[in-house]
Amino acid sequence: MNVDKIREDFSVLNKGIRYFDSACMSLRPKQVVNKITEYYNEYPACAGRSTHKLGNMVSDEVNSSRRLIKNFIGAKKDSEIIFTKNATEGINLLANSFNGEKVLLTDREHNSNLVPWQKFKQGILRSNEDYSFNLEKFSEGVRNYELVSFVATSNLDGYTLPIKEIVKIAHENNVKVHLDGAQHVPHNEINVKKLDLDYLSFSGHKMLGPSGTGVFYAKEELLKNMKQFIIGGETVINSTYNDFVMEKLPHKFEGGLQNYAGIIGLGAAVKYLSKIGMSDIHDHEIKLRNAVDVSGLKLIGNNSGSIANFNVPGVNYHEVATILDTSDNIMIRSGRHCVHSWYNAQNIEGSARASFYLYNTLDEVQVLNEALNKLKKLM
Ligand code: ALA
Repeated sequence: MNVDKIREDFSVLNKGIRYFDSACMSLRPKQVVNKITEYYNEYPACAGRSTHKLGNMVSDEVNSSRRLIKNFIGAKKDSEIIFTKNATEGINLLANSFNGEKVLLTDREHNSNLVPWQKFKQGILRSNEDYSFNLEKFSEGVRNYELVSFVATSNLDGYTLPIKEIVKIAHENNVKVHLDGAQHVPHNEINVKKLDLDYLSFSGHKMLGPSGTGVFYAKEELLKNMKQFIIGGETVINSTYNDFVMEKLPHKFEGGLQNYAGIIGLGAAVKYLSKIGMSDIHDHEIKLRNAVDVSGLKLIGNNSGSIANFNVPGVNYHEVATILDTSDNIMIRSGRHCVHSWYNAQNIEGSARASFYLYNTLDEVQVLNEALNKLKKLM
């Protein structure tokens, strides 16, 4: 993996910034930006409706994007890929159509995979003391639920659940599995068919795609039985004043004119990631994460994958972020990272989080280490 060459594709990196906030929003390469511009310049029309030349071009591009994403996550059919505006929308779609009563979550769900389930009977599966997944407790209790909805990789600490085992055990107990893949899909290879995964939600903007893009995946037989969520144009094939006939998959879930530029840009992002290879990207991130000098820091959670989440004793986490930004153009996120429930349960006010991606370098991590060491010495 040639990181220097990769960095040439991200024009904002020329500004001398050290961007460690990809868990919130990744940067975009010129290939994605150009694809979006291509839509607006060359075929700025709607897909799936108008049969003129521009309309057909958009339809072709949207279909091609759906195919690229299907292949990227190893789904069986294009029609299992539903475009959304983010992982949150996908989770809301599932929660809206969920017929059961009992859902099992982990103790570090992002608000997006917590709040939509609060109207059901929720179980919270607590982690082990080292913040790893408690597979034993899970095996014992999963039969009491109809669905498990888990964060595959946490945006809090980068920890990845034992997904294969979870799906296997859940299915042995006739329980369906949904994964919030917002932090997982951008950083790991995933094959939903091999995993036999039932549902997956993820966002495009954390994986080099345009903002306001996301994907909801479900097995075809499950999607067919799912209630529609946002309905209107495109989701019906016929209507009278009192009734309508539902569209087929995937359109029954894609109400109204879509974010075509975004969908097409997301296809370009997936193409870009696939060309580099998810396994190389993952290995690179682990090297970066391991290079963070954590001595003297108070680590949050399990701290693995592409995330370093910490407190510098004696310095407020927001101040840490501001000082790093001001002194060395180091951009991190501070606060509770949309996992308020976990911070409340742990009695921790907040923290500073550096999250890495394919365009980051060991030299940049070295600058972070030096800046943090200066802070540590001040205290
Ligand atoms: N989930 C996003 C983050 O972790 C917003 O920053």
